[in-house]
Amino acid sequence: MISIVLIGTGNVATQLFDTFLNYKQLNVLQVFGRTDTSLAYFNSKTATTKHYNQLLKADVYIITVSDDAISNVVNNLLHLNGLVVHTAGSVSLEALSPLKNKGVFYPLQTFTKGKKLDFKTIPICLETQNKKDYSTLKIIAETISDVVYNINTEQRKSLHLAAIFVNNFTNYMYTIGNEICEENNIPFDILTPLIQETALKINTLSPNAAQTGPARRNDIQTMQTHLEQLRSKDNQKIYKLLSESIQKKYKNL
Ligand SMILES: NC(=O)c1ccc[n+]([C@@H]2O[C@H](COP(=O)([O-])OP(=O)(O)OC[C@H]3O[C@@H](n4cnc5c(N)ncnc54)[C@H](OP(=O)(O)O)[C@@H]3O)[C@@H](O)[C@H]2O)c1
Repeated sequence: MISIVLIGTGNVATQLFDTFLNYKQLNVLQVFGRTDTSLAYFNSKTATTKHYNQLLKADVYIITVSDDAISNVVNNLLHLNGLVVHTAGSVSLEALSPLKNKGVFYPLQTFTKGKKLDFKTIPICLETQNKKDYSTLKIIAETISDVVYNINTEQRKSLHLAAIFVNNFTNYMYTIGNEICEENNIPFDILTPLIQETALKINTLSPNAAQTGPARRNDIQTMQTHLEQLRSKDNQKIYKLLSESIQKKYKNL
């Protein structure tokens, strides 16, 4: 059995906590949080604390706080002997430098409290400094997921950058689409099958081959009309920049 302490009470902490509870070989001994309110969810299910000096002895401590707070948290964990890992895509292993045993346990998915996910299909990217720590993390990762990768800091940072484009920016495109629908009294739901097909298509086609639209076809007149339709200057800029980038890419194809 592997004993685990979770440090942080946000989206990732909550999802990992709920998932670990399903496996008796993963024992969440304690959750650390800053306030009673943030610990309320965990209180009835495991031990909790607001004090670093009251952290229990565990095999693994998983830091799931905001990226910018990681170094501050690390400075409060120097007394620990267990393996300490963070869950951030864009933070290096070296950020845990002052600690003896360190690693990264990065689940590549978008998490929101209350939206339960099946971890079995979520890729978990692991990094450690030694083989023993890697084996420990691998046991945890392979217990909850079928997709586990050994990914170093540079790779993980690039992966995170790619994820920003395919997830965060794509979602922002939905927001713009939603605004355009609202301005014209059209239900956004009409676009759901299109959104789903766009995502599904890349199971069988490369993103490069799947590209369609006026910029891909170089339909200048249609693009001009779209620019005139857009009310927001920012959205015009986004439309122009993306269209020009697509045109440039497919110019000679
Ligand atoms: N959300 C995702 O989709 C996702 C996916 C993969 C990896 N990650 C990574 O997982 C980590 C946590 O992300 P999240 O989405 O779970 O964040 P979150 O929901 O915003 O929660 C952040 C947590 O950090 C705590 N915190 C903030 N500043 C702190 C400090 N100075 N000292 C101690 N605790 C502090 C917060 O405590 P309070 O409640 O007291 O403010 C809260 O418990 C990040 O490194 C992120 O990059 C996130």
